[in-house]
Amino acid sequence: MQYKTKILGTGKYLPKKVLTNFDIEKIVDTSDQWIFERTGIKERRISNPEGGELPSDMAAMASENALNAANLTPNDIDLIILSTVFPDYRLPCTTSVVMEKLGMTKQCPGIDISPACSGFVYGVHIAESFIRNGTYKNVLVIGTEKLSGGLNWKDRSTCILFGDGCGAAVLGRAPEGDKSEILSSVIQTDHTGGKFLHMKEGGAAIPFSKEILEEDDHYIKMAGRDLFKVATRTLSDNAKEAIEKANLKLSDIKWMVPHQANIRIIEKCGELLGIPSEKVIVNIQKYGNTSAATIPIAFHEAIEEGKIKRGDLVLFNAFGAGVTSGATVLRY
Ligand code: UT7
Repeated sequence: MQYKTKILGTGKYLPKKVLTNFDIEKIVDTSDQWIFERTGIKERRISNPEGGELPSDMAAMASENALNAANLTPNDIDLIILSTVFPDYRLPCTTSVVMEKLGMTKQCPGIDISPACSGFVYGVHIAESFIRNGTYKNVLVIGTEKLSGGLNWKDRSTCILFGDGCGAAVLGRAPEGDKSEILSSVIQTDHTGGKFLHMKEGGAAIPFSKEILEEDDHYIKMAGRDLFKVATRTLSDNAKEAIEKANLKLSDIKWMVPHQANIRIIEKCGELLGIPSEKVIVNIQKYGNTSAATIPIAFHEAIEEGKIKRGDLVLFNAFGAGVTSGATVLRY
């Protein structure tokens, strides 16, 4: 027996503190004009861990939203998949902390994943597979990130790009005759681009040391231009493959919800796919790149704003450090 999967509800949490481009002008040699023209970003949010905005706190709040929208309670969840590159702790896994914060009184499996900015699309793919084969009924997929914690505030090529936040979605079985459905997905990892975005310190290869601190190797380092090129190619290749798998044409897509890394990457991707800008959901100006959280936040806001409606054909399209990438085609 195979089951169709639909998105039952979505949610988001954005930290209260806003950091504008003008604020960053006071920290590094940059300008609001440069940042906006080259990236599309005007401001981003910065979480306050002491003020109840740890990745797990943001995840619990976004998940509560998504559960309410789905008319479900935390104990209705059968599996949690949480993507983050900034977990609260190395151990225990963040899903365990989120279960506690959601007040779950039953046990269920929790999987932490870290395909960086592609994390939500990876999570949706894994959730859909488990729901389709009947293993689990309701799966909570979360992208929660505190990238500001890994930024070098002396490096103007990276500190301007990223922000904090969380997006979540509850996926479940689509009842018989329901038009909403995840139609196809594609996930990939191209290891040849692994060197383009990294934060090597702290793992088994490079334990934390005084030298690491001196070399600033405990921060995110990025080859922006190289990543830019891989991103545009990968995003369009994956989208075409997922659309073909769903037996659809590019022109059938009503909304593209791309990873929000750079407005120029989004525009180039739209151009390569022939998807006009009015069909593309963009909120990068408000939040910058929140990694695995960009797609679920943008998707949730587009639903709230009444743009994306039930029955619309939607394309999620992501890439991230790895280089991981993925695309999902769904009828919302
Ligand atoms: O989720 C995945 C995460 N990462 C990405 O998606 C990143 C993809 N790449 C990008 O978004 C872009 O490559 C960046 C926004 C990072 C950089 O934009 P760019 O147009 O590729 O600029 P560039 O690195 O080629 O630098 C052009 C110039 C350089 O000066 P010179 O050498 O031409 O004199 C940089 O030093 O701009 C300078 N620059 C800046 N100037 C003012 C770099 N960062 C800044 C800055 N403010 N913040």
